[in-house]
Amino acid sequence: MGRAFVFVNQKGGVGKTTSAINLGAYLAGAGKQVLLVDFDSQANLTSGVGLDKAAAKPGVYELISGTAELDKVIHKTSVQNLEVIPSGIDLSGAAVELVEQADRDLFLKKALQPVHNRYDYIMIDCPPSLGVLTLNGLAAADSVLIPMQCEYFAMEGLSLLLQTIRRIQKGLNAELQIGGIFFTMYDQRTRLAQDVVKEVSAYFREKVFETIIPRNVRISEAPSHGLPISHYDPGSSGGRAYQSLAEEVLARG
Ligand SMILES: Nc1ncnc2c1ncn2[C@@H]1O[C@H](COP(=O)(O)OP(=O)(O)OP(=O)(O)O)[C@@H](O)[C@H]1O
Ligand SMILES: [Mg+2]
Repeated sequence: MGRAFVFVNQKGGVGKTTSAINLGAYLAGAGKQVLLVDFDSQANLTSGVGLDKAAAKPGVYELISGTAELDKVIHKTSVQNLEVIPSGIDLSGAAVELVEQADRDLFLKKALQPVHNRYDYIMIDCPPSLGVLTLNGLAAADSVLIPMQCEYFAMEGLSLLLQTIRRIQKGLNAELQIGGIFFTMYDQRTRLAQDVVKEVSAYFREKVFETIIPRNVRISEAPSHGLPISHYDPGSSGGRAYQSLAEEVLARG
């Protein structure tokens, strides 16, 4: 049975999508079978792995509306062992439909069940909110990964997120674990970034990954080439960091 990770942070632009793609790609590179699930109507993950978000059909929308079967919505990427269920702008409409269903928060969990043992890792990318799509992601996963940017308000956002996770653990998904917190877009020159890392690490201890993802322009360029950093520039500081994060994930089992 594979593990399902969900990338959550209600703050926008902290590196959820970038991390889902790049961590997924390095795990695939280590020979693991990986499925990426784009559960965000921005569809950045979809385009980041080289699929055209307007044309990558069927995808999550068809899955939710019941017009395509699971096998049909799984697409290959140019990376070996890395597959994706794409999203598109139409997912925002589907989210509204979901809200009207009785088991609305368990949709994704049920939908993915048939392929759970086909993959070693399922990586679910969520939008920057704690709405119905993110709740579905949290219900479907066994582990939450929290990317954090090293800035002042990050700590405040984290406590709200942890409250939500505790609520999920009491209801929707008792098995849900906090897989870990990791820092992204780190700039070692700023004192604030260093302080945030120190403070969060002192509080969350072993929940914090040792790997810190630096701010690196190659990481931000890679999606426009439709490639993970493992295939765009593995020798860059960002590439090496995501490789090391993948090694930590593999070591944690
Ligand atoms: N380590 C990094 N160095 C430089 N740029 C980065 C890095 N990580 C992410 N970025 C860039 O920052 C932007 C936001 O990243 P990303 O889309 O992964 O965040 P997100 O949390 O998924 O955003 P959203 O909340 O909108 O879904 C993107 O343009 C991405 O290319
Ligand atoms: Mg995103």
